[in-house]
Amino acid sequence: MAWPYCAFVGFFLLGAVVSTAATDAEVDQRVEALLSRMTLDEKIGQMSQSDRLMTPFSDEVRQLIRQGRWGSLFNAGNPAERAEAQRIARTETRLGIPILFGRDVIHGYRTIFPIPLGQAATWDPDIVEQAGRTAAREASAEGIRWTFAPMIDIARDPRWGRIAESPGEDPYLASIFAAAMVRGFQGTSLADPSAIAACAKHFAGYGAAEAGRDYNSTWIAEILLRDVYLRPFHAAVDAGVASFMTSFNALNGVPSSGNEFLLRRILRDEWKFPGLVVSDYQSITEMTLHGYAADARDAAREAANAGVDMEMVSTAYFDHLKSLVSSGAVAGKTIDDAVRHILRLKFLLGLFDAPIPAAQTVTVTPESLAVAQKAATESVVLLKNDQNLLPLSDTVGSLAVIGPMADAPVDQLGTWTIDWRTEDVRTPLAELRQMLGNGRVLYAPGLKTSRDSSHDGFAAARDAADRADAAVLFLGEEQILSGEARSRAFLNLPGAQEELVEEVAKAGKPVVAVIMAGRPLTFHDTAARAGAILYAWHPGTMGGPAIADLLFGRAVPSGRLPVTFPRAVGQVPIYYAHLNTGRPASASELGIPMGTPAKPTGYTSKYIDVDVTPEYPFGYGLSYTNFTYENLRLSAPSVAMGGSLTISADIANRGRREGTEVVQLYIHDVVASVAQPVRLLKGFRRVALKPGEMRTVSFAIRTEDLAFYNQQMKLVTEPGRFEVWIAPDAEHGIKGEFVVK
Ligand code: GLC
Repeated sequence: MAWPYCAFVGFFLLGAVVSTAATDAEVDQRVEALLSRMTLDEKIGQMSQSDRLMTPFSDEVRQLIRQGRWGSLFNAGNPAERAEAQRIARTETRLGIPILFGRDVIHGYRTIFPIPLGQAATWDPDIVEQAGRTAAREASAEGIRWTFAPMIDIARDPRWGRIAESPGEDPYLASIFAAAMVRGFQGTSLADPSAIAACAKHFAGYGAAEAGRDYNSTWIAEILLRDVYLRPFHAAVDAGVASFMTSFNALNGVPSSGNEFLLRRILRDEWKFPGLVVSDYQSITEMTLHGYAADARDAAREAANAGVDMEMVSTAYFDHLKSLVSSGAVAGKTIDDAVRHILRLKFLLGLFDAPIPAAQTVTVTPESLAVAQKAATESVVLLKNDQNLLPLSDTVGSLAVIGPMADAPVDQLGTWTIDWRTEDVRTPLAELRQMLGNGRVLYAPGLKTSRDSSHDGFAAARDAADRADAAVLFLGEEQILSGEARSRAFLNLPGAQEELVEEVAKAGKPVVAVIMAGRPLTFHDTAARAGAILYAWHPGTMGGPAIADLLFGRAVPSGRLPVTFPRAVGQVPIYYAHLNTGRPASASELGIPMGTPAKPTGYTSKYIDVDVTPEYPFGYGLSYTNFTYENLRLSAPSVAMGGSLTISADIANRGRREGTEVVQLYIHDVVASVAQPVRLLKGFRRVALKPGEMRTVSFAIRTEDLAFYNQQMKLVTEPGRFEVWIAPDAEHGIKGEFVVK
């Protein structure tokens, strides 16, 4: 490369580096310059967020915006109102500080993707990132530049309604999901107008709510907190997440919105997180109900000193921070640090410099729908397929389409969807009618809603099944049974759905069950009566095309469970990465039929009325072909501390159809200073194989990947024996061993 060219390239790169570095320095300089001009009232205004006062856009709200009352508005207004509010903030306030508009863009904005639990079931970070990118483009086009996602609370209790929003039970999978969502939402630069700031929530431990009851207490030993619940949040920080949201729960007696251990020790001191911390909805003043703050003033003091930069909805900051600062109970520096985090994010998003975007309304596009369909198709898990009932043959004469979820456009979207348009949603019924022709689809809902307990519609459903060649039942949970404040004490299919299946099965035709739900359910009898079961979570806008393609083999199921399915709610919490205990149940004690009190045998950790193993294990999912795992081999029988070794196996497609297998790597630290789980996921790979094709799949494991928190809270890898599996799920696979020296 000739010198001048080198020089040019060098200058250009240096320029790029300088301009990038300058961006950070420049932002910080602009923050300081603005901060130095702000009054305490203006600072406290930035620390306040509201959701109520936008539609219709009243004169009172206009005036409050002129007074700099809020730094952020969320889940309120329409694009035109947001643009007008921004114009007022930018041109009619003393300092022209823009408003940061936030919204719960959890799994899509106008185009709705599968619920996060379904997206986790894809085990495909690429499609998860694409979904986030699409959502960001749609939301930012309507003036939203901050989403309160990803929700990355580890969830091991399906009674908890918010398991629907979570990436499931495993910190390794959840961490990969978290990073993919952050990349999707934020893109490569927050300054890009299509970028929206992501928000890692709910920090922390929220998914461990006792008894699966939302907002309930969480008692988590620090080792478990660090090893399991904090890992996805750390991954989000490593991925550059712009903000955090505190959680409603008290963690070990201290509400997260006043928890210095979380917000200063972990988030700022250990992880060096530079971004913004927002409370959850009124979670600051709720500290009085927790019995942690005496009143709203005390709550404001606790939250500000713990490190909550912005208060969502409640007004403790607005009402009390000024006097708390004058009394010295809250230092001026604390306020300035909070406002720095807020202003910095606004500068990084370009809100001060970009022209106020004209109000526009987005619509779904072929591209956004294609991403939604791919995500929905990959999210569906095939749980059962006796005698290869699926895929159905195109020659099937007529199909009975039955159940409350067959044509439920809102319910199939799942929880936390705000900006969908019903006319965009493609339901299974509509898709099957289009695919087969109306005459070949015999539709009978059987039940009006998933909670309907009336048998009035059963006769028509049975009649449809009698007249058809096969029956597909669309079952599950309607939207309002899932999500926040939707904890359930039972996990059965709601209403009379099991009875509906029983009635339809009497027709003696092949029965396929498609279950759309926001959590693992128990459906033992339905599972016995159906020849095949597809678990579709809440699949979003394109649930219909995705399911229709899978039913007829235009697509092959590749979803794998991101969460363990119990046989009975009494087994909860149930998860694969459990400890062995000193008295593990022996194989002879397994296989106890549901609800049959067995003769109590040994003194082991079992139930006497149900098999102690799950109905379906973590990582489980079938295909329309079958894969074999052979020839597990390691690059060496041992590895020195600080080194790495490679674990390989040959995966072959032994069936007649192409399929995608999710090859999983698990390890078990056999003896350690803190007892370790019987298995831990440490890697996975989606592998598409044609019939007869074999692929060697290899994983590199470094000794640091085997680290766990010891009793001194140090992240350590200890020498000793390790078992390793390359596996199709958390209960099976081929096994090897190695030693860390
Ligand atoms: C809710 C949720 C939180 C959401 C916030 C704003 O109560 O806990 O996840 O982002 O309030 O809607």
